[in-house]
Amino acid sequence: MWSPGRVSRLLDLCLWYIVETISRYITDIKPLPPNIKDGLIKIMSVKGRITDSNINEILHPEVQTLYLQSCDISDTALQHVCSCRKLKKLNLSSSEGNRGSITSEGIKAVASSCSYLEAVSLKRCYSLTDEGVLALALNCRLLEFIDLSGCLSITDVSLCALGENCSLLKYVDFSATQVSDSGVVALVSGLCAKKLEEIHMGHCIHLTDAALKAVVTYCPHIRILHFLDCPLITDHAREILEQKFLGPNKLKQVMWTVYIDAHRS
Ligand SMILES: *[C@@H]1O[C@H](CO)[C@@H](O)[C@H](O)[C@H]1NC(C)=O
Ligand SMILES: *[C@@H]1O[C@H](CO)[C@@H](O)[C@H](O)[C@H]1NC(C)=O
Repeated sequence: MWSPGRVSRLLDLCLWYIVETISRYITDIKPLPPNIKDGLIKIMSVKGRITDSNINEILHPEVQTLYLQSCDISDTALQHVCSCRKLKKLNLSSSEGNRGSITSEGIKAVASSCSYLEAVSLKRCYSLTDEGVLALALNCRLLEFIDLSGCLSITDVSLCALGENCSLLKYVDFSATQVSDSGVVALVSGLCAKKLEEIHMGHCIHLTDAALKAVVTYCPHIRILHFLDCPLITDHAREILEQKFLGPNKLKQVMWTVYIDAHRS
């Protein structure tokens, strides 16, 4: 009897086989139909097999998601990603260690071609500068999710641009960047003020209680707020947050570090 489950498993087996022996078949892959390529992209992403040299063979113009966090790729691969004009989700976070091979050059190229991007993860792409984020902010107005954590040279310039241009942002992670209070104020008082639901701003050495105050003041729908290891945020945080624990739009989750002066007593 015909069983769709069986058939799809057979297809999966073939795809797994192709991925295992990809170097032998690489020249045959380009003309394959999009649904087969989608299967290959999925398996190769999980196994970390997409590279600068094979990505052009497996991409097709209808691709909407690329989870490349396990793949060793650079700006070269991003030049090919530009052909996916309908791309909505792009994960370039590094799952282990840092990823220095992704720079603003690559991100600028993607931003100018993929204007439907909704979610971009760039965790620990430490070579990225404000220039790359600026390009995303100016060209990708549908952005809802951006992870810039560990992008060590990102400054207030990025947060200002996101605040000025991206009205749909719900999730922003700028942990371990160079941002200061004025960048946070510009972001949270910007176009996305009423959309923001989740902010991660831990390990930001310049942030003070003023940043926290701004989030609580401007973002009525904030649900999750993390600010672990921000040494300038004081115990006063508790009072600032208190108003958010009352009322209808309660915070669901807060994480922070309280610094106790060991020399005080
Ligand atoms: C992107 O990849 C990182 C690193 O593996 C992972 O932790 C994260 O959940 C992914 N993000 C999304 C939105 O898929
Ligand atoms: C982004 O913001 C800048 C500065 O306010 C503005 O000049 C530009 O037109 C905006 N771009 C978009 C796409 O909204």
